[in-house]
This record gives sequence, C-alpha cells and structure tokens, in this order.
Amino acid sequence: MILSKVPFLALFTVLSITSLYSNLAHALSLDPTSKTSICSDTALIEKGMLDYYEGTRYGGTVGYFQAPYYWWESGEGFGAMIENWFVCENDTFTTLLQEALIHQASSSFDFMPENQTMVEGNDDQGVWGLTLMTASERNFTRASNGTLGVKNIPDWVDMAQAVYNTMYSRWDTSSCGGGLRWQIFTWNNGYNYKNTVSNGCLFQMAARLGRYFGNDTYLDVAEQVWDWLVDVGFVNLSSDSKIWDGATIDDNCTSDVTKIEWSYNYGIILGGAAYMYNATNGSSTWESRVTQLLDGAVSAFFNDDGIMYEQQCQASKSCNNDQRSFKTLFSANMGYVSVMAPFTASTVDPLITTSAVAAAGSCDGGYDGVTCGMNWFNATNDGYYGLGEQMCALSVIQTLLVHDVDAPYQVVTNEYMAQGDSEAGLSSTSSNNEASLLNAKLDISHGDRVGASILTAVILLILITGSISMLI
Ligand SMILES: *[C@@H]1O[C@H](CO)[C@@H](O)[C@H](O)[C@H]1NC(C)=O
Ligand SMILES: *[C@@H]1O[C@H](CO)[C@@H](O)[C@H](O)[C@H]1NC(C)=O
Ligand SMILES: *[C@@H]1O[C@H](CO)[C@@H](O)[C@H](O)[C@H]1NC(C)=O
Ligand SMILES: *[C@@H]1O[C@H](CO)[C@@H](O)[C@H](O)[C@H]1NC(C)=O
Ligand SMILES: *[C@@H]1O[C@H](CO)[C@@H](O)[C@H](O)[C@H]1NC(C)=O
Ligand SMILES: *[C@@H]1O[C@H](CO)[C@@H](O)[C@H](O)[C@H]1NC(C)=O
Ligand SMILES: *[C@@H]1O[C@H](CO)[C@@H](O)[C@H](O)[C@H]1NC(C)=O
Ligand SMILES: *[C@@H]1O[C@H](CO)[C@@H](O)[C@H](O)[C@H]1NC(C)=O
Ligand SMILES: *[C@@H]1O[C@H](CO)[C@@H](O)[C@H](O)[C@H]1NC(C)=O
Ligand SMILES: *[C@@H]1O[C@H](CO)[C@@H](O)[C@H](O)[C@H]1NC(C)=O
Repeated sequence: MILSKVPFLALFTVLSITSLYSNLAHALSLDPTSKTSICSDTALIEKGMLDYYEGTRYGGTVGYFQAPYYWWESGEGFGAMIENWFVCENDTFTTLLQEALIHQASSSFDFMPENQTMVEGNDDQGVWGLTLMTASERNFTRASNGTLGVKNIPDWVDMAQAVYNTMYSRWDTSSCGGGLRWQIFTWNNGYNYKNTVSNGCLFQMAARLGRYFGNDTYLDVAEQVWDWLVDVGFVNLSSDSKIWDGATIDDNCTSDVTKIEWSYNYGIILGGAAYMYNATNGSSTWESRVTQLLDGAVSAFFNDDGIMYEQQCQASKSCNNDQRSFKTLFSANMGYVSVMAPFTASTVDPLITTSAVAAAGSCDGGYDGVTCGMNWFNATNDGYYGLGEQMCALSVIQTLLVHDVDAPYQVVTNEYMAQGDSEAGLSSTSSNNEASLLNAKLDISHGDRVGASILTAVILLILITGSISMLI
C-alpha cells in the first residue's frame, strides 16, 4: 500500500484555507490527567473521523471509509475506535464497529472479502488482523449471530487466527530465505517486494496470539519472523537501531533495501517485541531488543521537545494519505510497549503526554473548529485535514489511558475469554484458498511473463463477472 499507489495528497490538502476560519476555532483543550477531558476530546475527534465514513450513508459500503482512503486504513481506524470503546468505556459505536468488521470479514472470516481479493496485500490483511487482536484482547462485544444477516459469527480471536493462519501459509522460502511478500497476488505491483510491514503484522500477531493463548507455537513463529527480519537486514539493531521498508526479491533481498523509515513499522515491530518480552516473562533477550528498538524509535519519530512526527515526509509535506495515518498505529503500539514492558514506561509515557497535548493543539481547524492537523509542532492546525489526521490524534490522545485500564486480556489467565480456533481460515472452502487457486491459475513462471495486457484482460473479466469460480 505504500510505494506504488497514487498519492492523493492534492485532493485532501487544503492549503491554508482553514486559516480563514481560524477566528471561528474553538480548539480542543486537553487535560492529559483527566479521563473526562480525554474522552470528551476523543469523542469529538471520532465525530470528525466519521465524517469520512460512508457505511452509515445511503448507498455507502459498511466497513469502508470513503475514497480516496484505502481499505486497510479502515482496518486501522476501526482498531483505534475499538480501543476507544475500551479505554473510555463508551458503547456509542459498538454496533457500528461490529457491523463494519462483520461486513468486511468475508464469508470465511479471514478478511479477504471479494471486493478486495484482486488488490489485497499481506499488509492490508495484516492491519485488519491487528485490529482483531485488539478486539480480542479488549474483549470487544461479540457480534450476535444474525448481525447483517450473517449466521454463525465466530469470536474476534477466531477471526484473528484465520488472518494469522492464512498469512503464515504464504511464508515464502523461494527467495530471501523466507518472509512474506508484500502482495498476495502475482499480478499486483509489489509481488516481487518483501516488506517490513507485512512481516511485522505477522510477527506482532504471532506474539499477541502466543501471549493470549500461552501457546509456544505462536511464539516460535514470532521468533522465526523476527530472525528473518534481522537476517535480511530490514531490522538492524547493530548500532543506532533502524527499521527499513523492504527490498525486492530480484537480488534475493541482498542489496537495494529501501532505506525509508515509517513510524508504523517501528510501532508494529516494537509493539510485537514488547508482547514477546511479556509472553516470555521478561526474557533478557527481548528486554534488550525492546530497549534498542525503543531508542531507535525515540530518536527517529520525536522532535527535541518530545513531540511525535512522521519524519520521512512531514517536513517536506509529501506524506500521502496512507502515511498521514501511520502515527495511529505508532501511538497505539507505544502504549502497548509501556504496558507490556513496564520498564519502558518512564521513557514512553512522557512522550505520549507531550505528543497528545500537542496533537490536541493541532485540532483547531476546519468548519467545526476542532479538526486535527498533520503537524503537531505548532499548537494549531497546519492546513492539513483528513481521516489520517483524525485517527492519529485519536490514537495518541487515548493512549494516555492505557495504564488506567486492564492490560490486554489473555485466555490463559482469564477463563471468561474466547477460546479460539487454531484451525480457523485453513479449510478448503476459505476465501484464501479460493484466492490461492486463482493465483496458481494465473501464476506465470518467472522467465515467461505473458504480456500484461492479457493478464489485465483476464482480471477485468473476473472483475466484471465478479466470479472467481469461472476460472477454477
Ligand atoms: C460517548 O460517545 C458519544 C459519541 O461520541 C459522545 O457523545 C459521548 O459524550 C461519549 N460519552 C462520554 C462519557 O464521553
Ligand atoms: C462490495 O462492493 C459492492 C458494490 O460496491 C457493495 O455493495 C458491497 O457491500 C461490497 N462488499 C464489501 C464486503 O465491502
Ligand atoms: C453463533 O453461532 C455459533 C455457531 O452456531 C455459535 O458457536 C456461537 O456461540 C453463536 N454466537 C453467539 C454470540 O451466540
Ligand atoms: C537467498 O538468501 C537465502 C538466505 O539468506 C539463502 O539461503 C539462499 O541460498 C539465497 N539464494 C540465492 C539464490 O542466492
Ligand atoms: C546493520 O547496520 C550496520 C551499521 O549501519 C551495517 O554495517 C550492517 O551491514 C547492517 N546489517 C545488515 C544485516 O544489514
Ligand atoms: C511464564 O510464567 C508462567 C507462570 O509462572 C509459566 O506458566 C510460563 O511457562 C512462563 N513462560 C515462559 C516462556 O517462561
Ligand atoms: C506483563 O504485562 C503485565 C501487564 O502490564 C505486567 O503486569 C507484567 O509485569 C508484565 N511482565 C513483565 C515481565 O514485565
Ligand atoms: C511550525 O513550527 C516549526 C518549528 O517548530 C516552524 O519551523 C514552522 O515554521 C511552524 N509552522 C507554522 C505554520 O507556523
Ligand atoms: C468478556 O465479555 C463477555 C461477554 O460480554 C463476558 O461474559 C466476560 O466476562 C468478559 N470477560 C472479561 C475478562 O471481562
Ligand atoms: C497452539 O497453537 C497451534 C497452532 O495454532 C495449535 O496447532 C496447537 O494445538 C495449540 N496448542 C495448544 C496446546 O492449544
């Protein structure tokens, strides 16, 4: 979702138009020590976020934020809203969130809905998977059978396992010694690229499932993914720790690593490492990894005042819509790090407080006077607004409450939690299986690529007829 998709920056960048309205601004005032203040601010921010939600509009698709936002970003946004449901104990959007997840789950609940199967990447599915982990660990209210007419709805954790199982089934040893490719489907740009976020989502899901179930099988997979990320050099703890974006498989991932640093990659890897630290009862190996990753994250994504920013593109104002949402996952993960690895709290918590206050300061734009901006340095909206800006502010502000609520639940210590299904997503009728059959049909051996036009025609035909089975 990052490199090759078209940036829609221009569409949603309203240069200083908002400043015309600054005399109308109310701005959010945030008392970072008050739950009431935090939750009333986040309610306003969510209201702004839902301005982009088409699922409650006539003709809109449930579970989808409007164009130009991609499907994965809906997954990211609903994850932040589920966290808000928990930390603010506010049921207002329970049904909206349940319906959004159920509608996008697909009939086999592995988050490969038909509308996405032509374009879905491992990272897209993985981010929805992280949201399902949040729903599981926060014991988000289960959708009752019959929601949107869907029968036999499983628990959130079963769906998380379906995502995990389908992703792990794509572990690919044919190049680079392992790892997931960025794209699931051979015809998508990026099929030949292995990236950190796809593998990071798998790593974090394995760590969280391992902790939730107290099951070493998942923890072993997390170790495997970690080792691969380090071997291939996408995660490098050797000096000043770095997490890069990925590399093409054409040279076996050996050179040509894309040396770009995104906050969400650091957040997802660091969060996963903190879960590993916790799930291993505080192993010294994971303690030092968490420490090194945290050092890298702090130096890369906080300015001298301790305010979070997207360092790769913020100053140059070149962040695209995806990138403008990355601080959402980064913030949420900083919260998990502080909870799962309490020795980090004295470092993490002050940075979250400073950043949350700064983010609230940016929420003085737009017609409503509480629209959040991208850049949090100046205590005023910087002229940007959009779904990403709302989500990032929501996430960093609600992360202030992580220590006021229970830590993420585990079935292993709490019998009142969903028991899961380790085989979820693996049946022969799963949408993943259908999709991989389609992939196999259309796979074209490396030296023998058919003209892209033929492939495109086939795909268009499938899209038009809406049928995968015609090819199988
Ligand atoms: C709960 O959320 C709703 C909708 O955002 C909001 O109007 C209400 O004020 C919230 N309640 C509390 C106690 O924050
Ligand atoms: C798929 O797209 C159709 C047509 O836009 C829409 O009606 C349907 O709700 C979508 N399904 C999902 C799961 O998004
Ligand atoms: C929904 O149906 C399934 C399968 O029949 C059942 O296992 C599950 O407990 C039901 N869910 C709820 C919330 O009752
Ligand atoms: C690719 O890298 C992996 C692991 O680094 C190695 O085992 C494998 O032999 C390499 N393959 C080629 C063709 O160089
Ligand atoms: C890690 O970074 C160090 C220093 O920047 C570099 O020398 C080393 O080659 C890197 N390791 C890998 C596996 O890329
Ligand atoms: C962590 O501690 C629990 C409870 O003492 C124990 O059951 C579990 O085996 C330990 N796990 C590891 C990886 O040491
Ligand atoms: C794991 O997380 C829990 C919840 O925050 C915490 O109480 C516990 O101390 C953590 N374990 C370790 C080894 O730090
Ligand atoms: C925001 O603050 C930065 C540094 O703190 C400064 O360089 C920049 O000019 C400010 N931008 C605006 C719009 O005031
Ligand atoms: C999780 O939610 C269910 C149903 O809402 C409830 O019965 C159960 O006690 C909850 N578990 C915990 C640990 O709060
Ligand atoms: C642990 O998870 C694995 C993989 O999902 C599963 O096969 C195994 O049965 C689980 N073990 C236990 C004790 O539940």
